[in-house]
Amino acid sequence: MEKIVALCKRRGFIFQSSEIYGGLASTYDYGHYGVLLKQNVKNEWWKSLIQERDDIVALDAAILMHPRTWEASGHLEGFSDPLVQCLGKCKRRWRADHLREAQPEGELKCPECDGDLSEPKQFNLMFETHMGPVADEGAKIYLRPETAQGIFVNFKNVLGFARKKPPFGIAQAGKSFRNEITPGNFIFRTREFEQMELEFFVPPDEAEQWYRYWREERFGWYKQLGIREEKLRLRDHDADELSHYSSGTADVEYEFPMGFSELEGIANRGDFDLTRHQEFSGQKMDYVDTATGERYIPHVIEPSAGADRATLAFLVDAYDEEEVEGRERVVVRLHPRLAPVKAAVLPLVNKDGQPERAREIYEELRKVMPAEFDTGGSIGKRYRRQDEIGTPWGVTVDHQTMEDGTVTLRDRDTLEQVRMPAGEVGPELAARLAA
Ligand code: GAP
Repeated sequence: MEKIVALCKRRGFIFQSSEIYGGLASTYDYGHYGVLLKQNVKNEWWKSLIQERDDIVALDAAILMHPRTWEASGHLEGFSDPLVQCLGKCKRRWRADHLREAQPEGELKCPECDGDLSEPKQFNLMFETHMGPVADEGAKIYLRPETAQGIFVNFKNVLGFARKKPPFGIAQAGKSFRNEITPGNFIFRTREFEQMELEFFVPPDEAEQWYRYWREERFGWYKQLGIREEKLRLRDHDADELSHYSSGTADVEYEFPMGFSELEGIANRGDFDLTRHQEFSGQKMDYVDTATGERYIPHVIEPSAGADRATLAFLVDAYDEEEVEGRERVVVRLHPRLAPVKAAVLPLVNKDGQPERAREIYEELRKVMPAEFDTGGSIGKRYRRQDEIGTPWGVTVDHQTMEDGTVTLRDRDTLEQVRMPAGEVGPELAARLAA
């Protein structure tokens, strides 16, 4: 993980937030390549749900929601973790359930200084703030701890315009906030993060079948974007792990440097959410089939992923070190569709008209894909930089280009170089990206 953190800083993917003030714990800022990578992760998620199928519609609800939402959802009452504090030297706070996993037997001890621990207290993870100028109880609102509730409260609005009937889904990606007791492992667990959530509404008797379907579908999404299969697993929750609303949950887990951990949860939420919002709002939340007159509250299958967590998994999985001709090479083998930059156009030397010709090729290429033009430093140094930001292809302009119009196309992973006419590079790379 330290190598990933160092690479992210060195190459402008991710920085510690407010670093000049000493940093804000477990909060991160995305730099240029990090923004592009995370955006590509989200784009692939949207594409798989919206472009490649026609039973899901998009939504972008506000982060601030009516406080009754969180009463109905159960978050005000139950969205808490058991907090213990060290009574010894370090006074640090821990999640009792996490400590129990690491210390399965006997009395829990502080992992930092081996001190005794306080009795567990439930700690609500929602961030509170106030709406308007008076910070009294009546003005209290919350930063949403999940995007899902924005979807449930809009169920009727969407049903009204989307001409959909169950089974159909509503997808939303956006920021969520949780005052985590023990954030950590870089961007794996932070207090501000992005979720990509789908709520898939189905007739009650189809819930199990759709739950099985989405487990497989979402597992396949990570594989298809290049994550090695042996690093992924689908783990069913035991009965005592299930949330209050769930009759079945499975996690897609990835083997991060700290071990297998959750990437995404797929839950069968039953009719819990819509029923609760119907109860708390007094508004009907059922679906009426105009053809048959049948009326029911749909059940919900929810694949809920983290955009930052997925970005971390793609980076960790892609990171590689190898020796090439006696020198160490760090290479980030991101799937081309996720790579922030698809191709770098590089003149071999900064003279003899090569930079000008390379610039022309770059101007053509960037009309069809994100590309970079780089003249800074030796060709080896420029390749190393592109390898570290995961650029799958390098287009090199050399003396032969000036004679016969061909360039070399370098493959990031195999290091193979092939010559081809400069005009063929764009269509060739576009075809490879689409494959
Ligand atoms: N609506 C259901 C829900 O929010 P969750 O398992 O609490 O379920 C879903 O969260 C996903 O959101 C997780 O699998 C993870 O990818 C991401 N996530 C949750 N808490 C996070 C945190 N503190 N930091 C980064 N990602 C987080």
